[in-house]
Formats: sequence, structure tokens, C-alpha cells
Amino acid sequence: MTKRIGILYFSPTKTTKKICQAIASGMGANEPKIFNMTLPNSRSEFITNSNQVTENIDHLIVGAPVYSGKLPLQVKECLRSLKSKITTCSAIVVYGNRDFGIALYNMVELLSGNGFRVISAGAFIGQHSYSNILPIAIGRPDESDIKKAQQFGLNTLNSNKYLQQKDVPIQIDSASKSDKYDSIKPLYLAKICIKCGKCSQVCPLALISSDSGRYRNPISKRKCIGCMACVYNCETKARILKGNIFIKLLMKLILNKAQNERREPLLIIS
Ligand SMILES: Cc1cc2nc3c(=O)[nH]c(=O)nc-3n(C[C@H](O)[C@H](O)[C@H](O)COP(=O)(O)O)c2cc1C
Repeated sequence: MTKRIGILYFSPTKTTKKICQAIASGMGANEPKIFNMTLPNSRSEFITNSNQVTENIDHLIVGAPVYSGKLPLQVKECLRSLKSKITTCSAIVVYGNRDFGIALYNMVELLSGNGFRVISAGAFIGQHSYSNILPIAIGRPDESDIKKAQQFGLNTLNSNKYLQQKDVPIQIDSASKSDKYDSIKPLYLAKICIKCGKCSQVCPLALISSDSGRYRNPISKRKCIGCMACVYNCETKARILKGNIFIKLLMKLILNKAQNERREPLLIIS
């Protein structure tokens, strides 16, 4: 019997989306049901009516990026509201070649705690969101990553055992131990902004004004999670990521290994 596949993802710069779609294609799903939890309105909708994400779905692929070794808070909030005793799932995190910390472990914990039967889990690599300052994992997921994701999808469907918490490794470091989410906020260049409103439409927290590329107010700037959705989608480069000399040095220090050593996806199927 063909399985009905759903994809639930959070993906400001689209690498997580690409990986989840490749996994679904490996499962033979040409038109999986998409639940995009990147934008605030859809997240609220999923939280209020969480049944829509599992109704008529046999297997759900859940994908999120790694932020400071953890799952983004917005993803955690959404996953807490999802419950299912019949849907199986794959837990997927995508990270910028540094470290996936406790993100994958937490995702499996949240999903299995809510009744899902987790068949597989994977930590894939995507171009680092801050590559405009320090290029890391450029172009990833690449062809090899996509092939691995497709094969992972196929192997997942062929498995009928469930993962346990202990099957998922964690990479504990100062970032994943801390509650803090370190981020860099983009700059806005009013002179070259054409006021197309795209940045406002794609901001996962609805923090940007719809008639210019400015934050709505100083509190919005503080709330910005630095996901780079606005930078990624700005055609005129009016919203940009630029680091001063101290940020560049700090990033070089923290991300030196990530910049120089290629990591490969971690694939766990019971
Ligand atoms: C605020 C923030 C924190 C991040 N923290 C990490 C991290 O701890 N480890 C890592 O390898 N990559 C980290 N990244 C990089 C992203 O996980 C990576 O670029 C991912 O592919 C982005 O997913 P998306 O394209 O679906 O938005 C971080 C990115 C952002 C924006």
C-alpha cells in the first residue's frame, strides 16, 4: 500500500525544506502534504488545530534547523501541540556543519513523548545561515547529500521498528548546554530598498514593517532570531548580513573546524 507522506518543516533559508523533500521523494511521494511552520500564522493554525497535520497522513517527516545546538523555540512550541498514536515519523535536523548539539535528541523526545512512533532520525548539513560573513558548507545540501536523503527515505519505509531515545547521540557543548540563542541581526540599507515587502512576508516572527525593510520597533529588533530569511529573500540586498571585525574574529574562532572539515549526514534507522 502506498503511504501518505506529510512534511512538517521550519526553514527560513530553505536547506531544511530541500532535505525533507528529498527524503519524501526517496519514499516515492511525488506530492507529499506540506505543513510549513516557518511563518507565524501557520504555526498558530497548527497549534490550534494540530489534527490537520496528522489526519490522513501515515508518515510525517519533521524537519528543523539547529540554532545554537538546539531546536528553535518556535519549532518546540509547535511540536508540543502535535499528538498522534497512529502516525509514524522521521525526525530531521539540518545544521551548518558545526554541531547539532541536543536538537535531534530533543526532537525525538518531543515526538515520541507525544505518541508518535519515530522510525528514523537524521542530522543533515546545510549551508550555514551566516555564510555571508564566513562561508561554511556552501551549496549544501549538495548532490551527495540529496542522494543520501533519498536513500534514507527509502530505507525508512522498509523499516518497521521504532527508535528509542538512547539511539540518538548528543553533542554537548557550551551552546547546547545554555538556554541562550546567540544570533546576528541583519542590517537594513534604506537607500536601496525598493519596498517590495518580501522581507516582511517571510519573517518567521513578523517583525519587519510591511512598507519598508525596517524592524517594526526596537523591541522587534531585540526579538529577531537572526534566521536570515529576510536576507535570503531580499533581491536588492537592502537587508544584509555584515559582521564587524570582532564578530568575524569570533566566528572564525568558533567555526574554524566547521569551515575546514566536511561533515557527513548522520542517519539513524532502527
Ligand atoms: C541563530 C542561528 C544559530 C545557528 N546555530 C548553529 C549551530 O549551533 N550549529 C550549526 O552547525 N549550525 C548552526 N546554524 C546554521 C543552521 O543550522 C544551518 O545554516 C541550517 O542549514 C539552516 O536551515 P534553513 O536553511 O532551513 O533555515 C545556526 C543558524 C542560525 C541562524
